[in-house]
Amino acid sequence: MSESLRLGIAGLGTVGTGVVRIVQQRADLLAARAGRAIIVTAVSARDRAKDRGVDLSGFAWEDDATALAARDDVDVVVELVGGDAGPAKDLVEAAIANGKHVVTANKALLAHHGQALAEAAEDAQIALRFEAAVAGGIPCVKALTEGLAGNRVERVMGVMNGTCNYILTRMEDAGLPYDTVFAEAHALGYLEADPTLDVGGIDAGHKLCLLASVAYGTRVDFGGVQLEGIERVSIEDIRHANDMGFKIKLLGVAQMTGRGLEMRMSPCLVPARSPLGQLNGATNMVVLEGDAVGQIVMRGAGAGEGPTASAVMADVIDIARGTRLPTFGQPASTLKKVTRAHSGSPAPYYLRMDLVDKPGALAKIAACLGDAGISIDRMRQYDHEDATAPVIVVTHKAGRPDLDAAISAMEATGVLIGAPVALRIEELGA
Ligand code: NAP
Ligand code: HSE
Repeated sequence: MSESLRLGIAGLGTVGTGVVRIVQQRADLLAARAGRAIIVTAVSARDRAKDRGVDLSGFAWEDDATALAARDDVDVVVELVGGDAGPAKDLVEAAIANGKHVVTANKALLAHHGQALAEAAEDAQIALRFEAAVAGGIPCVKALTEGLAGNRVERVMGVMNGTCNYILTRMEDAGLPYDTVFAEAHALGYLEADPTLDVGGIDAGHKLCLLASVAYGTRVDFGGVQLEGIERVSIEDIRHANDMGFKIKLLGVAQMTGRGLEMRMSPCLVPARSPLGQLNGATNMVVLEGDAVGQIVMRGAGAGEGPTASAVMADVIDIARGTRLPTFGQPASTLKKVTRAHSGSPAPYYLRMDLVDKPGALAKIAACLGDAGISIDRMRQYDHEDATAPVIVVTHKAGRPDLDAAISAMEATGVLIGAPVALRIEELGA
């Protein structure tokens, strides 16, 4: 058996301790699969005194994570600190500069700096891998890079933020409003330190742009993701969606169109009977469609110690085996500069709005849609209260710019109370 592969792990939180645990508890299995032993030689975190429930006594400790990159006894830097700047970025850059392989779970870092880091890694002839950064334990990066490498990818879809799926599912199951469930999720420790990353769709958007890069051979373009969070989804929306045979999901979609690369992360109505519609709780799902293979659905834990460490180890084992896959599935220097599709392809939309309860109010709304060339499929006024008339409208297929023009015109009529909620109804196909 050849020499051990030596890991320097930065970050000993949820994921870092999970990686240490797998390396310590599965040593024989890892060595058998990788053809060489995989060991940890050095670690770094902020608080050396913290009990992390794993034995760190055999490892060197670095107070400064960047120092791991300079150690002679580290072959692979495993970055599990997090954040798109600061220590994580400094460490990854230093590791590449020093010719160390890098494995990271950091979607924020790669969404913002993935292209530059992948090019630097390529120049340095080292591996930079990130399976754990997208949908935790679901091996979707590997699926695209390897298993589906013979396909032209037609569409990538997914529910890639477990916290949002938990919140939407819990609202529906318990009949609770968004604010109450948000507070529950916070108390349970589900939310990121900055909750906007979750509920604003940013974390899931980071993941989507990384998958899109692998799927379409394009440079990572987080700025090209049309982002919308779940903050305005109400229990009424969930109930109306159910009545019509839909569920509401924070859905990511990436597809190459004649107008450029379309990347959307937004709350959408999906058929209740579809695999995405049946996805409950904090679970993730990634749906990949290739021209040869058709549709593939992968479902599993998108977060947590075991699932995320499992994905980190898949990358580590690749490196131990000598497998050198390009970060985004093809050489970084060959990734194409993306042309952005500035709006999503046309789709039916669900609209919910409150109108002043006066003669002609509904007619004005209908006229705004008609003037924008949008045809109404269904319309319903419900739960009439005081001087407010809540209305839902389902349109036939419409382009988002036309819908936005109609909404602006509606707002100018003076019959709306507050801003309407507009949710896309996603056609899932197969
Ligand atoms: P975490 O539990 O908050 O742990 C972060 C670790 O980084 C802690 O051990 C912390 O040290 C250490 N750290 C912070 N600043 C540091 C510094 N300047 N130098 C050295 N160490 C430092 O985070 P996590 O949940 O394990 O997430 C790690 C990464 O995995 C992130 O990029 C995250 O987005 C990604 N990820 C996480 C999950 C998940 O389920 N948690 C899933 C997918 C991807 P102390 O412990 O001493 O404070
Ligand atoms: N906040 C993320 C989620 C963690 O809820 O899915 C995993 O990336």
